[in-house]
Amino acid sequence: MDHFLYRDGQLHAEDVAISDIARAVGTPFYVYSAATFRRHYRLFEEALADMDHLICYAMKANGNLAILKLMADLGAGIDVVSGGEYAKARAAGVPGDRIVFSGVGKTREEMQMALNGGIRQFNVESEPELIALSQIATSLGKTAPITIRVNPDVDAKTHAKIATGKSENKFGIPIAKAREAYRQAAALPGIEVIGIDVHIGSQLTDLTPYEAAFTKVAELTHQLRSDGHTIKRLDLGGGLGIPYARSNEAPPLPLEYGDVIRRTVGDLGCEIEIEPGRLIAGNAGLMVSSVIYLKHGEGRDFLILDAAMNDLIRPAMYEAHHDIIPVAEPSPGIEQSLVDIVGPVCESGDTFARQRHMPPLGADDLVAFRSAGAYGAAMASEYNARPLIPEVLVQGDQFAVIRRRPTFDEMINRDTVPEWL
Ligand code: LLP
Repeated sequence: MDHFLYRDGQLHAEDVAISDIARAVGTPFYVYSAATFRRHYRLFEEALADMDHLICYAMKANGNLAILKLMADLGAGIDVVSGGEYAKARAAGVPGDRIVFSGVGKTREEMQMALNGGIRQFNVESEPELIALSQIATSLGKTAPITIRVNPDVDAKTHAKIATGKSENKFGIPIAKAREAYRQAAALPGIEVIGIDVHIGSQLTDLTPYEAAFTKVAELTHQLRSDGHTIKRLDLGGGLGIPYARSNEAPPLPLEYGDVIRRTVGDLGCEIEIEPGRLIAGNAGLMVSSVIYLKHGEGRDFLILDAAMNDLIRPAMYEAHHDIIPVAEPSPGIEQSLVDIVGPVCESGDTFARQRHMPPLGADDLVAFRSAGAYGAAMASEYNARPLIPEVLVQGDQFAVIRRRPTFDEMINRDTVPEWL
């Protein structure tokens, strides 16, 4: 459930009419509902309530500072994957001991930054990374708390570009080699082994792959303990999917996911960490856009919007579906027609939806893309010299621009022309 509903014939974000925001900030823009973020976070809290746990919001899904502050105020930890994300988490007031550092290619600079600033743990993904981290930690007179991310060779049954738990993926250390990697880690002076990490993919709509992966993690926990390691924390990653097509998708609920965790690893006496991103942010945001033209093509109509693939790349990149709805509620029974919904960028890939049923729409009408709060603004670019679109946060009847639209001059002035040219 989210807080984007029609009221008096107009789509609202909580108590604010989307059309009022459009008038104030112009289109396109992203709008987030604070209540929905909080609600989604609490669903995970409830799902894990009887276990010692920390929910580390994966900020790659939506890393706006205001969103990070909102999550931090709820008590969330943060999962970061770069020095920039680490810096943003700290800037939002997240203490180091609630920040987990993931990622397959952490640089020495990033390790140093996190060790100096404070870190809960590094999720290490390779032997060379272990050695580098030990060297950096030792040179700073510190010890780095780590888990090793194991690759369980489990098919997450999701889009190939976001599946991470098969042996052909670049992620983690193959679970069959894990005992050897832990032996190596334990012998390194700058490393303190504290647990195990696993993340098998994103937008999982079936719990079976989780069950398989967590069962392997439980077995490994016993083996590593018998090898003499301290395993007191299990980071189980993120990845729980959301309904993108409201009419026919019903992915598992956080409570059911919690049951899988309890059943597989609940009796090991470990602190449980999870790293959800999409489920918290995805359905807490819309992207709002205006129609520029309705163009009648050869046997096909094109609804041309002022938003494009640079603003929301998921359809172009993952063939992703986003529900697209008019901001003015269509009258019941109104005749719908099939249109292709596209942006102005000069690529055919700049297509949000093909042959989608839509009510009659024309120039200046507003439409909203649902499920755009995760991996929307976060993945945006300025391709075609289209400035990044603003982000707006709503809470009750208030709204605020939490990232403003840059001016053309700001965009232009980031480039420099060498004197000698
Ligand atoms: N932890 C790790 C180590 C991850 O790599 C990811 C996502 C997460 C947590 C959060 O997963 P989530 O709960 O959000 O599924 N851009 C793609 C999604 C990429 C996910 C990458 N890793 C998309 O738009 O679908």
